Amino acid sequence: MSATRGTRALTPPEIAARKGRTPLVCLTAYTTPIAQLVDPHCDVVLVGDSVGMVLHGLPSTLGVTLEMMIMHGQAVRRGLERALMVVDMPFGSYEQSHGQAFDNAARVMAQTSCAAVKLEGGESMAETISFLAARGVPVMAHVGLTPQAVNAFGGYRVQGRGDDADRIQRDAVAVAEAGAFAVVLEKIPEALAKRITQEIAIPTIGIGASPACDGQILVVDDMLGLFGAFRPKFVKRYVELGEAASAAIAAYSHDVRERRFPAAEHVFGDEPKT
Ligand code: KIV
Repeated sequence: MSATRGTRALTPPEIAARKGRTPLVCLTAYTTPIAQLVDPHCDVVLVGDSVGMVLHGLPSTLGVTLEMMIMHGQAVRRGLERALMVVDMPFGSYEQSHGQAFDNAARVMAQTSCAAVKLEGGESMAETISFLAARGVPVMAHVGLTPQAVNAFGGYRVQGRGDDADRIQRDAVAVAEAGAFAVVLEKIPEALAKRITQEIAIPTIGIGASPACDGQILVVDDMLGLFGAFRPKFVKRYVELGEAASAAIAAYSHDVRERRFPAAEHVFGDEPKT
């Protein structure tokens, strides 16, 4: 269903205004059917570059392209009515110059009809965020563990422990002051998430960053038990769809081998009316 039919979609200013109020419910989605499932329950739906690992089997998010984000963004757009849709800018599509960031963000917005983009980075990206925000591109920022920097970090480890806390705090303050309308805090200690949430004026959206944040986000395939390549400790699995799917496929395979299928004439006549 399109955002232009029926319910009006939430806007970036409305999400920003939720600071300190009812926690923001956010999930990722990459396809139309999942977008339709999450939309009634979510304030923000992120077409995350996690799509590369979750749906395309890539070892990290580094191989994700702008074309992939646009294709998945278009699919998600068709499934949303109410939630704010945010699309991730993939690695290499925004870091080089303000012009590169604007051109690619504008292309993503024009081709997916998303209302905002997300990009990773703190102080180093503050000028870019300010450039985009001043030109009509609402930006969700992302600090702490930023998966596109996995090689620089040497893995997906917790950020902001001990003396490193001040760096993450500076990052969060910089993106808020630059004009981001919300910021994702990934994999940082609770005390730091609390400090940042109290200090900055925009909503903090945590992933592995404690309930102290103004909202939470999870990769939808993680919380549905569909992604098995690795399982972050902070992910609560609300259902084990992967196990259920595997059992269903095994049952189908058994039926095929045992020729346990209804005769064709018993299942004719149920074609959709055109
Ligand atoms: O790519 C993604 O899905 C993300 C979220 C997990 C925050 O960046």
